[in-house]
Formats: sequence, structure tokens, C-alpha cells
Amino acid sequence: MINIDQIKQSFEQDIKAITDVESLKVKYLGRKQGLLTLAFKELVNLDQAQRQKLGPLLNSLKKEIENAILNLEKQSASSSEKADLTVPPISEMTGMLHPLSKTQKDLEDIFLSLGFTVENGPEIESDYNNFVALNFPDDHPARDMQDTFYIKGPETKDPHKKLVMRTHTSPVQVRFMKTHKPPFAIIVPGTVYRNEATDVTHEYTLTQLEGLVVGEDVNFANMVWTLDYVLKKYFGSDIKTKILPTYFPFVEPGAELAMSSPRFKDGKWVEMLGCGMVHQNVFKHAGYQTGKYQGFAFGFGTMRFPLMKHGIPDIRLLHENNLQFLSQF
Ligand code: DAH
Repeated sequence: MINIDQIKQSFEQDIKAITDVESLKVKYLGRKQGLLTLAFKELVNLDQAQRQKLGPLLNSLKKEIENAILNLEKQSASSSEKADLTVPPISEMTGMLHPLSKTQKDLEDIFLSLGFTVENGPEIESDYNNFVALNFPDDHPARDMQDTFYIKGPETKDPHKKLVMRTHTSPVQVRFMKTHKPPFAIIVPGTVYRNEATDVTHEYTLTQLEGLVVGEDVNFANMVWTLDYVLKKYFGSDIKTKILPTYFPFVEPGAELAMSSPRFKDGKWVEMLGCGMVHQNVFKHAGYQTGKYQGFAFGFGTMRFPLMKHGIPDIRLLHENNLQFLSQF
């Protein structure tokens, strides 16, 4: 016997206590055991008069139940989409290179592609390697170009024993040449120290990159080409470079390379690095026969590179280790 009212009541109760739409659907509309499905099967066995009476009632109950289930399905779909967009995301911090390390790596890659090798030296140096061997004799006024941190120790006049925080990466030139014969092309990235006050463009702990290329026929034009190539690779091929004469004790002739691009400082020329042909006195201190070799050397502060490239306004930001600042690069 088909009891339409009973099915209807049972559905109304179930829907109030609903936990799972799918099992409700199976219970009433399931293809084999669904209560409505069974009722429709029974309908076939009834006589015509009963069929005509119950058929439309059963059909309308089926519609009602189908609609109710459809609504429930829609509701549960939209409620699972209701994410609270104001909840801050769980951020996954991924590791990254510090802009100074990244700069060093980018520059190393450019020089490595030209056949240079990467060398290192200590940050505490003898006065001899930092100055004397680089043709800064004692009391030479050029020593004033670099404000030096001297390391306290027994009073001595011996430049091999007197220690300094290296003021530049150039002493590694001497160290390398004492143990290697030309030809070679090296770069030396490293940290150097200057006893000076800090401001937006000055730091007392600096990173530099030194270069030295020595052989029997290395010339000034090789140097100009190399430096122009490296700067264009790093900053972009639209930059212009020019060479101006200047003085450093360890090179002769000494030069400085300036760069210009509308992207930096309104297109004004910016001094980027010091360079020149290695002074024969430096070769002599390294133990090379004078006159046998020629070479070029160059050196520059690498902190200026990311500052210019990314428009960072203050050099000191690079050492503050503020993650919010660093994670932009
Ligand atoms: N050592 C110089 C400095 O710190 C930079 C420099 C200039 C290095 C000329 C060189 C060079 O090798 O040839 O200011």
C-alpha cells in the first residue's frame, strides 16, 4: 500500500535533522531502494482508478522532494565557497639571496663567462700587503685616500707585522701573484673597511670587487672592452661608458670609468670604478721580473650596483637586515 502522507512526513522530519544531503537523496530518490522509487514501482500494480488518483500526488511529492534536495545541494556548495577574504594568508617564507650576495653572484657569473676565476683573501691584512706592496710607500700622501682601521698590537715599524682591516681588495693582487705565474684573469669579491662616518652614500663596511688580468701582451684596450662589457651585462646595453685619467699608486696609467644612462641620475656621468695598467713596482713586490709582464687591474664598490639598479635611496638599508625591505629583491 502506498502511503504518500507517510513518505512526506518522514521527509519533512529527515530534512530538519539533516546531516548529509547525499544520503537523504539516496533514501528517497535512490534508483533501487529510494522510498519514492519503490512507491512508483508499486503504482504499476494498482488498478487504474487508484493509479489515476495516486499518480499525480506521487509526482508532485517527487517534485517537492527533488526541489528541496536541489536547494540543499546549492546551499552546501555556496557555503563551502564562503571564504573569509579578510583573514591574512599563512605566508610561506621562502629563502632568498640578500641583494648584496645576489649582486656578487651576478657579477661573478659575468666574469666567469669571460674566463676569470674567483679568488679570496683575508680581511685582516698586513700594512705591507694593503699598502707597501701596492706602491704606497710609508708616509705617502696617497695613504690618506683611505681612512684605515689599524689593529692594536705591539708597537712596530715593520709593515709585515703591522695589521689593518683591509681598506680595499687590492692586497689580494699581491697575495695571488706571489703564488701564481701569468697568464691569468682573476676577480676578488670581498668585504673591506673604512674608518669614516656613515650617511646615505657611505658605509664603513663595504663590499668590493677587484680584478687582475696579467699576461705578456695584455693592454689598455683589453681593459676598456672588458669593463664596458661587464657593466652593460649588469645594467643593460643602453648604458654608455667613458674613461678618464686619474691617480692610484698601484697603476700607471690610472683611470676611472664613468657610466651614464637616462635611467640613472638624470643621465649624468657617474664614477663607477678605478682601473689602470698594473704598476711595474707592484710586479716587483710580487716577485715578477720587471718589464716581463703587463696587466690591468680594476676595483669597485659593489654596493652601488644594487642601489642604482633598484633605485634604493640609502646604502645603510643594505646592512639593516630588515626582512620587509630585503624580501623585495
Ligand atoms: N683599491 C681602489 C679603492 O679601493 C680601487 C681600485 C682602483 C682598484 C684602481 C684597482 C685599480 O685595482 O686598478 O679605491
